[in-house]
Amino acid sequence: RLPDGCASSRGGDPGMQASDSPNAVHEVEKWLPRLHALVVGPGLGRDDVLLKNVKGILEASKARGIPVVVDADGLWLVAQQPALIQGYQKAVLTPNHMEFGRLYEAVLRGPADSADHHGSVLRLSQALGNVTVVLKGEHDVISDGQQVLTCSQEGSSRRCGGQGDLLSGSLGVLVHWALLAGPEKTNGSSPLLVAAFGACALTRLCNYQAFQKHGRSTTTTDMVAEVGVAFSKLFET
Ligand SMILES: *[C@@H]1O[C@H](CO)[C@@H](O)[C@H](O)[C@H]1NC(C)=O
Ligand SMILES: *[C@@H]1O[C@H](CO)[C@@H](O)[C@H](O)[C@H]1NC(C)=O
Repeated sequence: RLPDGCASSRGGDPGMQASDSPNAVHEVEKWLPRLHALVVGPGLGRDDVLLKNVKGILEASKARGIPVVVDADGLWLVAQQPALIQGYQKAVLTPNHMEFGRLYEAVLRGPADSADHHGSVLRLSQALGNVTVVLKGEHDVISDGQQVLTCSQEGSSRRCGGQGDLLSGSLGVLVHWALLAGPEKTNGSSPLLVAAFGACALTRLCNYQAFQKHGRSTTTTDMVAEVGVAFSKLFET
């Protein structure tokens, strides 16, 4: 479940029109004035009608200046049509290695250098017009086209299915907060870069704490249960 002020384009969300219905764009547009951020991709699927609607929703969100986090099948769409996100500086992309490779090939017309994550993430961000990119992995590598940050907050050796939803969902909230706070509070760095670093640290700490309790049987639900304590440890002490 996403916090207030955020919505995801997940087709089955109660209270949202299914994003594969023919008038989904129109239905979702009604919600946009009330949204602080949009998270697109988790659980989406690749149905043609649905992706066409998502494209419309992305365009409407861009027109309103709503920050957008794109993950999972949303990244598949962006790899088909990079122009959708190109130059939109309120977008954050959160690819895993496979999604990153596909995006990189699509945008830079050649394979990413797997020995140089920093350079590759920086180049993809710049080629997209300084859209913030978060490459998820053993360490998370984040760039806004200017700086490159590495989040090495200790997690665990276990990666849960659905863990990415926790990252993209919390990122939606943190992006909104960081943009509200403005550049003085983010110490001169891009608010989106700082938000991305925060969401990575939060997700990793949730993973760490849940793993201490549940070990190999840790699920994303166990991680979500750690959000309160992890948030307070990272941001309120
Ligand atoms: C992206 O950032 C780099 C480094 O600061 C800068 O040289 C470039 O002009 C920026 N590109 C855009 C499209 O803003
Ligand atoms: C803020 O930026 C200044 C100058 O770049 C740096 O010296 C300082 O350590 C930064 N503070 C934090 C909390 O990152």
